[in-house]
This record gives sequence, C-alpha cells and structure tokens, in this order.
Amino acid sequence: MKWTGLNELREMYLSFFESKGHLRLPSFSLIPKDDNSLLLINSGMAPMKKYFTGEVTPPRKRVTTCQKCIRTGDIENVGITDRHGTFFEMLGNFSFGDYFKHEAIAWAWEFCTKVLELPEDKLWVTIYIDDDEAYDIWTKEVGVDPSHIVRLGKEDNFWEHGSGPCGPCSEIYFDRGEEHGCGKPTCGVGCDCDRYVEFWNVVFSQFNSDGKGNYPPMEHPNIDTGMGLERLACIMQGVDNLFLVDTVQNITKQVSKLTGVNYGDDEKKDISLRVITDHMRSAVFMIADGVMPSNEGRGYVLRRLLRRAARHGRLLGMHETFLYKIVDTVVHENQGAYPELAEKRDMITKLIRVEEESFARTIDQGLQLLNGYMDETVKSGKTVFPGEDAFRLSDTYGFPIDLTKEIVAERGLTVDEEEFGRLMREQRERARAARKNAGADAWAGESNVLDGVPETEFLGYETLEAEAKVLAIVRDGVRVESATAGDEVLLVLDRTPFYGESGGQVGDTGSIESEDAVLEVTNTTKNQAKNFLHHVAVQAGEIRVGDKVKAAVNADRRAAIMRNHTAAHLLQAALRRVLGTHVEQAGQLVNDKRVRFDFTHFSALTKEELKKVEELVNHEILSAVPVESREMPIEEARKLGAMALFGEKYGKVVRVVSAGDFSKEFCGGTHVSNTAQLGLFRIVSESSVAAGVRRIEAVTGTNVLALLDETTQMVEDAARELKLNNPAELVHRIGQLSAELKEKEREVESLNAKLAAMRVESLFSSAKDVKGVQLITARFSGVEPAALRVMCDKVLERSQNCVAVIAGVNGEKINIAACAGKDAQAKGAHAGKIVRSVAAVAGGSGGGRPDSAMAGAKDVSKLDDALSAAEKIVADMLK
Ligand code: ALA
Repeated sequence: MKWTGLNELREMYLSFFESKGHLRLPSFSLIPKDDNSLLLINSGMAPMKKYFTGEVTPPRKRVTTCQKCIRTGDIENVGITDRHGTFFEMLGNFSFGDYFKHEAIAWAWEFCTKVLELPEDKLWVTIYIDDDEAYDIWTKEVGVDPSHIVRLGKEDNFWEHGSGPCGPCSEIYFDRGEEHGCGKPTCGVGCDCDRYVEFWNVVFSQFNSDGKGNYPPMEHPNIDTGMGLERLACIMQGVDNLFLVDTVQNITKQVSKLTGVNYGDDEKKDISLRVITDHMRSAVFMIADGVMPSNEGRGYVLRRLLRRAARHGRLLGMHETFLYKIVDTVVHENQGAYPELAEKRDMITKLIRVEEESFARTIDQGLQLLNGYMDETVKSGKTVFPGEDAFRLSDTYGFPIDLTKEIVAERGLTVDEEEFGRLMREQRERARAARKNAGADAWAGESNVLDGVPETEFLGYETLEAEAKVLAIVRDGVRVESATAGDEVLLVLDRTPFYGESGGQVGDTGSIESEDAVLEVTNTTKNQAKNFLHHVAVQAGEIRVGDKVKAAVNADRRAAIMRNHTAAHLLQAALRRVLGTHVEQAGQLVNDKRVRFDFTHFSALTKEELKKVEELVNHEILSAVPVESREMPIEEARKLGAMALFGEKYGKVVRVVSAGDFSKEFCGGTHVSNTAQLGLFRIVSESSVAAGVRRIEAVTGTNVLALLDETTQMVEDAARELKLNNPAELVHRIGQLSAELKEKEREVESLNAKLAAMRVESLFSSAKDVKGVQLITARFSGVEPAALRVMCDKVLERSQNCVAVIAGVNGEKINIAACAGKDAQAKGAHAGKIVRSVAAVAGGSGGGRPDSAMAGAKDVSKLDDALSAAEKIVADMLK
C-alpha cells in the first residue's frame, strides 16, 4: 500500500465500482427530501431509501456514490478526541435487488487487496453471529483466513438507523499494529482502543424497519455499503488522526494561520483547533445546500456549530471575527468533488461573517455572565445550573442551549432543562399572542402603519435584480427601526424588482442582502398605497431602515410564473376562437406550477374542443410570436380591441400586453418576451366551478416536461410489471391479458359448477337416515355463501326427502346454509329452525324459510359440535 491523497482515494473507489457496472451518481444534498425521519443526511443510503424499498425506480440497479454526511450525535466529543467529526464523506456501492452477498463481498475484498493493496494479514472481517452464508463466502470463495473472521451480535453487526431499510452486515477492519493497542489480554476486533479500525461496512439490506421493532422483509434483498473516506485516508496515509488527513490538515493550517496557534503545541488548544476545523467543514457544506442559521431544526444545528466554533475562537484568544476567512480553504480543498461550493462561495462567506458578527456583539458579555452564574451555582453548593439563566443566555445573548450545557458541563454542572423548556414555551406563547393582537390587517399591509411611505417604484418588468434602499420595516404590525436574525418582518424599499401579488399572479420570492444582513423573501404583496411589501425572514445579521440593499428575485421561479401568465392570455384567446366571444375571464391564478383559468361558458368542453384549444395555443408558441407590453391611454387600448376585465375599474393610462394579433389584453402582470419561451402548453384538467363558469388548468415549460416524465415513468413501471421490454407493446399486452382473464373467469365458473356437483355427489354417500329422512352435514373451507347456496340447490335437485346443513369457513367467519326438501318438510323439517339451532351451538344466529335458510357463526372450534348436533335437532323435529 502506498500513501494516497483523499481526493485520489475517492476517485479510485468510484471508478472501481463503475468498472463493475455501477452508475456513478453525484452526492445528494445534505437536506433529506421527503423524509421527515432525518434532519440531515447521515449515510450513503439515506437519500436512496425509496430505491431500496422499491417505491421509486432507481436510474440503474447498481449505483455508486461518495455522499457528504453529517452526524452530530457525538458533537460533544468532537475536538476532545482526534477521531470524531461531524462532517464526513461516505463511499458506497449499492444494489437495488440486483447482486447480493457473493458479489458484494468479493468486490469489497478485491478493492481492499488489489486496488488499495492493503496487506491481507492486517485485515479482519466481522460477520453477524449466525450468518454462515457470509462466513462461507469469506472463507471459501474469497479465501480469507478463518482465524481473521469474528462473529459479533446485533449490537455490532446489524445495521439500522432509525426507520427504513436495514439488515445484518459484515465489516472490514484494519489492524494498525500492536503499538496502538490497549495491551489488555481481551484486546481484539471490536475493542474500544485504537488498534483495530473498522472502515467498511457491507450491509445485507433485507428488512424495512418501521422504527417500532417490526422488521418486514423487503420485496428483494439489497446491498448497502459504507466506507468512511476520511477513515480510509487515515489508513492509507499512516495517520491515526482525522485532522492529519491531507485535505483536512490544510484547513487546520489555515485556522492556525489566522489564530497564530500551532497544532500540537498545546493539547487544550488543539481541541479548539479541531472543533473549528470540523465545524467549518460542516457549516460550509450545509450552507451550500441551502441550510440557513435559525433556532430550529437544521438551522439550529448550523447555528450551534458556528457558535460553538466562535466560542472556541475565543478560547484561542481571537476577539475579532475570523471564521469566514476559513471558507475559502474549505471550498478549495473540496470543490473538485463538490462544485456547488465554489458556485456559492460568496454567499457562504457572507452568511458566516454576518452570523459571526451578530454573535460577536453578545458573546463576550454572555460568557462573562455565564461565568458569573456558574460561580454562584458552585458557591451555593449546587450542581444544577438554573434554567432561568440558561434561558436569558439563549434569549438575550444568543447562546444555543446546547452550548451552555456543554460549557457548564466543563465545570461539572447540568442545566435545569425542565425550567428552560417551560420558559421557552411561555415566550413562544407571548410572541404568538402579540402577533394576533397586531392583527392580520397590519400583516397584510392594509392598516395605516405605512402612512407617509412613498409608493414603491416597480422595476420588475425589465430586471430581476436591483439596488435599493430600505424605507420601512414592520414587525407584528408596528414600525421598527431594525430587525435581526430570526425575525419575520415586512420590508418596504424605495424601488424593487419583486412583483407584488395581484391580478391573479402570485408574488415573487428571492433574497435581499445588505452589507450586514441576509434576508429571504418568502412572498411579496402590495397595499392600497402601492407600497410593495416584501415578506422576509432575516436569516443572518441586522437590517436597518436606511440600509442599502441588493434585491434579487428567484429567477427560475419567476420565469415559470411568466410562462404561465402568458399562457393564460393565449388560452383566453384560443377559447374565444374555439367556443365563441361569450368567453370572458372570470378569475385566474398564475404561479410557477400552473395556470388556473376560469371563464364564462355554459357547458363542459368536449374532447375535440379541448384538443383544438391546446393546438391553437401550441401553434402560437411554435410560431415564436414576440410578446409586447405597452402603456397607452385607455381610449387607444379600447380601440385596439384589447380585452379588459369585465367590471374592473381602470385608470387613464393602461398597460396592454399583446402576442401578435392573436391576443391583446389589459394586464399589469409580467410576461415572457416571446411565446416560444413557453416551450409547450398542455391542459391537465377541465371542470366546473359555478353555474356557467368553467375552469381549465394547464402547464407550460418545464412543468410539461415533468408531466411527461411522470407519464413515461408510469408507462415504464407498468411495462416492467408486465415484464415487457418494449413499452410500446403495452396496449396490445393489456388487451391480451384482459381477454385471458375473461377466459379464465369462464373456466373458473364452469369448474366451480363441476366442483359443486361433485361435492354434492359425495355428500349423499355420507348421508344419514334420520327417521326416514336423509340428513346431510358437511363443512368446507374457503367456500363463500353463494357457493353454499348452489350446493343446497343441487342437493334438492337430487332428492326432496332430504335435509342438508352445509357450513363454509372463511378465516374467522362461518356461514351455514340449510335446506329441506318438500317431502322432508311434510314430515316436519324446517330449514330456518334447523339452521338457527345449529348455528347457536357455534355462537351464531340466523334463520329463514322452511325450504332454505342461512346463518352466520363465529366460533370455529365449536363448528363440528354444531354440525353433529344437527342429527338430534332434525330428529326432534320430525314426526
Ligand atoms: N449504511 C451503512 C452505514 O452507514 C453502510 O454504515
């Protein structure tokens, strides 16, 4: 084995598995998609759970990835040891119902011994306690020395993480040599000391745990493997310390450069260097994937990491902000495999600087107070730190509770978390009440809090980005001078590219940034006075009235909205051509997903009409007609024949949007500049909203593609279910199948009839004579009431001097049919009475006519007794 860099190892692994038929996928985002069981992606398999369970079809049955992962379960240990980290990369090869144990094991061994050239005598393997199959593969097929195989229990060799795919596993260990061992006689694989390091976990993923102790097997077994890239690098680089791995070390060096503290000089300071190095890796990757610091969920994890790092900066004597100066190094060391880091470098740097600055304003005072509180606690002989103090530190000084817990733990104290939790809840209640009192009106911008603020200049027809000035900030219905991280406020600018919700077009979203703050715009509305209200969440830093800002609309979303708005115009014009000029707009909603257009018309559209409308719109799109917007006096607009909204009041000057001669409408919305930008137009539904008003929903652009993808996937899934290679054979095959099915149904019917006849035949052979009447009793399982009836009819067809009691058992349910022929009835037999008495013995009830009756019962264990009782019941009845 030879020294190999981390980036090179990643490449070696991925290309090895490519050579074994695997599709290489880029790392998934750290933010889980459609998976609430997880805050952050913590293993290679986590983003692919649905491929394992079969809910989603993977792009190939063999996949290999290097996945960015974050695990914060051990965060207290990060820094203290030189092995723990919150961020790591996991290499993995995955089989979704394709290869299983044989290949997975053989390839793992081949990669270790042939590619990495790890010496076999230093490798050890563990298997799940009773997994003899794995044992045989390792020893007989791969040729591992049996003395290097260890069987371990569920604790070590059954892999599961919360709910989802899991199963027994087999792990590969590297023996770093006796000098790293604890020297205890029991030392061996699985020992806690540093001698044997586990670096590859091969999971035979067969179950889908519900997280509550149930392990139903999955449809097919899968392979899920995970190898810690940094751990592997430690082995290959001959170091026992995560922070000495080449790429990680370069980050620590940058921290040293900035703080003037060298690694290895002082064990206490090394802790802080390691904390900062690790946490900055996590923070940079998290922000690149869209996590923002906040007080909840993922955002809280990020804030905690950054504030923990900032505090360790203080421990290294840093009193100015410096964390943001580490971003460049983290990006540089990782951008080869993660290009998103370089793309977002500026944003990441700024966000970290702003978050750091806002904590810097309070950290020194907070730490001083914290020390004072701790002294008091210790002096009064207590070991529990008051929850009230922890709350004040969190609320006023921005100390995440976990940071306080950790700092007080360094002096042997614990926090009164119950009290802390109570105070947090109370505060949340107060905030909610305050919001209510401020009134929804104020929030919607209809109150007069903005009196005197001039009308906003709208720039969003021409541009999506602009410089502007903050004119007003409204929090909970009240004007304020500033807002800080965590606040949700309304922001009014002097000018804006953000479209404010109106005319059925939704408001824009995007971001606003100042020198000192980063804000997310979640919606934009307008008030009567034409102030545009940006609904923002302050993500970092502080924003003040008077600040200069850069406002940027989410361009992809806006493009989709514009496509749909132009589509609404084309749709209206097409409807008027196909249905007639009585068609008028009765309402619309235009967002980034679709257009919903309501219009006056008296009946449902036929298939042909819909097709024609769709064709007309698509024809305009494919003709690439320029879309023009012009302001003009209202008289001129009317002369042009532009469509206005019925009953709407317009000013003297109006804006007219036209697409060639096809469509002309009064409109204040935003539009594409050429119809070709719509790509394609597709109607997805037509329905009624009120008497004389119809609704059409349609999609354009990428949403048509998504629809197409969805349909294609459905067709492919259906073809796969039917084991067809070519989906084009689908219709033919379905026709065949349904014909086959009909044929089979006929067969089943005729077989059932034959079966019933045969059964009845055999019933007569065991009939009993009761006072001159033939009595037949029988039980069948899986026979439905209707079939019991048929059997009774057949009995009577053969003999009228006959009574039959026939039971059918379906699981827990019992049905009993009885019949009595004319001659038997003449002698006193009554089917209704018979079946009631018989059923009663098995805990049931029922009854019916003298010739034919039915009952139900529940107690299957008494059914035989009940049928035996029939003889006496009938005998007592006959004369
Ligand atoms: N999913 C397995 C692990 O994380 C491979 O260890």
